[in-house]
Amino acid sequence: MSTREELAQGLTRARERTLQLVDFDDTELRRQYDPLMSPLVWDLAHIGQQEELWLLRDGNPDRPGMLAPEVDRLYDAFVHSRASRVELPLLPPADARSYCATIRDKALDRLDSISDEPDATFPFGLVISHENQHDETMLQALNLRSGPPLLDRGTALPAGRAGVAGTSVLVPCGPFVLGVDAVSEPHSLDNERPAHVVDVADFRIGRVPVTNAEWRQFIDDGGYNQPQWWSERGWAHRQQAGLVAPQFWNPDGQTRTRFGHIEDIPADEPVQHVTYFEAEAYAAWAGARLPTEIEWEKACAWDPTAGTRRRFPWGTSEPTAALANLGGDARRPAPVGAYPAGASAYGAEQMLGDVWEWTTSPLRPWPGFTPMIYERYSQPFFEGNGAGDYKVLRGGSWAVSADILRPSFRNWDHPIRRQIFSGVRLAWDVN
Ligand SMILES: [Fe+2]
Repeated sequence: MSTREELAQGLTRARERTLQLVDFDDTELRRQYDPLMSPLVWDLAHIGQQEELWLLRDGNPDRPGMLAPEVDRLYDAFVHSRASRVELPLLPPADARSYCATIRDKALDRLDSISDEPDATFPFGLVISHENQHDETMLQALNLRSGPPLLDRGTALPAGRAGVAGTSVLVPCGPFVLGVDAVSEPHSLDNERPAHVVDVADFRIGRVPVTNAEWRQFIDDGGYNQPQWWSERGWAHRQQAGLVAPQFWNPDGQTRTRFGHIEDIPADEPVQHVTYFEAEAYAAWAGARLPTEIEWEKACAWDPTAGTRRRFPWGTSEPTAALANLGGDARRPAPVGAYPAGASAYGAEQMLGDVWEWTTSPLRPWPGFTPMIYERYSQPFFEGNGAGDYKVLRGGSWAVSADILRPSFRNWDHPIRRQIFSGVRLAWDVN
């Protein structure tokens, strides 16, 4: 996505998604489903407010915008915590919708007037990424909502295949190119750059993510009650939070609740809604470990025969429904083995889509990091910069748009979070 026409299409696709996720009555949009999440109407107006800031106010919050300054500030994510947003005098849903629509019209006019140069188009890619990222956040909120379902169970997915769960592929040692740059990926975000050569030792990595059936063995084996599998912090959190199974698994042990629908837990689907600490304990119990994000990216993107990165695990072609589960319509991960054509050069499957995969890596800048126009996107969250305590997740979930996902894309969250669409892929040292 780099021509202006493609950017216009990306903006339109993101907005169609957003509007589907706020197609509810005003009471619903103002509700706070969980203290971890904003009311949907906050996300809606914030999407417009950020679009106005990056595309119409040159990223300068002191430049006047459409909203009064005190209203504009309500949508600054750094000023108001998610838990507190429900108490704010937010724009009513109708006003939020019309604000977003007006800003979008002006943004498309602006897009018509710029050049195709990366410097000019970058903010539009950023806005597409931002809106789609909030769409995923809104799906997290809707999944936490109690009461009869608002959303359906999602679209059909390809069948999985037997024999892939629990298997692994070898990634031999050797240097590879980590990260991307403005030439190869003009819309990559600051923390994905610059591309640089890194060497890693031999390792094995799961061919597919860990499944619900495998996770159930961990539970049945007493894994949640055996501190030897858990880190000290992990065990303390497990005790304090009373963790006994992934979030949304019901006490009957057989069913789960997903967007308000109660259903059997599918055995061959990647496990979702586990914390970093649970992922770490599962890996120890399984005689494995979690990958570093550097190992993960090599297994996903490096082509050792060609000696180059692939744009996607499978090659250069854009993602399709036959290659990866992306875009949000499925509302769940696909069974393992569903995408053999999407395998990476090393044979790892479902690296993009399905579930975000926890890695052992704290969020750090790559050497030579330069902040982008949205200076606070990554920097405040880097290890040592105050906020600290994050683990990087890779690969994107089923809820991520194909328009914004790359093998280099880095997500991060607190190790105790699990309302996110997080799962696990194991790794092993090779001696
Ligand atoms: Fe945001």
